[in-house]
Amino acid sequence: EQDPVKLMKQQVGKAAADLVKSGSIVGLGTGSTTAYAIEFLGKRLQSGELSDIKGIPTSFQASVLAKEYGIPLTTLDEVDRIDIAIDGADEVDPDKNLIKGGGAAHTREKIVDALAEQFVVVVDESKIVDRLGSTFLLPVEVLPMAMTPVMRAIEKLGGKPTLRMGVKKAGPVVTDEGNLVVDVKFETLDNPAEMEKTLNNIPGVLENGLFVEVSDVVLIGAIEDGKPVIR
Ligand code: A5P
Repeated sequence: EQDPVKLMKQQVGKAAADLVKSGSIVGLGTGSTTAYAIEFLGKRLQSGELSDIKGIPTSFQASVLAKEYGIPLTTLDEVDRIDIAIDGADEVDPDKNLIKGGGAAHTREKIVDALAEQFVVVVDESKIVDRLGSTFLLPVEVLPMAMTPVMRAIEKLGGKPTLRMGVKKAGPVVTDEGNLVVDVKFETLDNPAEMEKTLNNIPGVLENGLFVEVSDVVLIGAIEDGKPVIR
């Protein structure tokens, strides 16, 4: 018996990979859903159905997967555009605004996703919310030496910050860029656009996980009558 969540993630990953055209520069997102998109993209390249694509990874994880599935990589210094970016999300609201950063990769993800001509979000239906912040804490990437003043500044904004700790590690999570992640609970996140700017204005904050007006397409994987479908 197949795990339904896995089926939904595979289905959206494949649908997103199918949107990529030959000759494209592709932003490669982070997380378990995008991992399937990278796998299917690699398969399309190997089969010859797709040619001449280059990936820009948003994390160490994405670059490892791209190498595993045979997708050539490039950097932002080498290209003048990103045609399409495929990335997951932790929450998606009715305006296609997102919370990202569950994988601590949101800083690089925002750079790549925001540059893309077309940003395709791949999620299963569990990520859909009416209001951002209702199920997921807001990740904020912080320079280590600024951790304490940043946490105080976040408290002044009405947030409850917690330093993200490693799972199989004694100590905090360290991002691909060598920084820390603070996960913040806000009672209300009525104005994500304003909060995104306010948080990034705190000295020592690199980037937060609010992605406002960045998404172009949201592919939602769901299960209907026991079969995976895209909404
Ligand atoms: C990484 O920092 C996040 O923004 C991911 O995109 C997000 O956590 C989605 O991951 P899953 O597809 O594994 O849920």
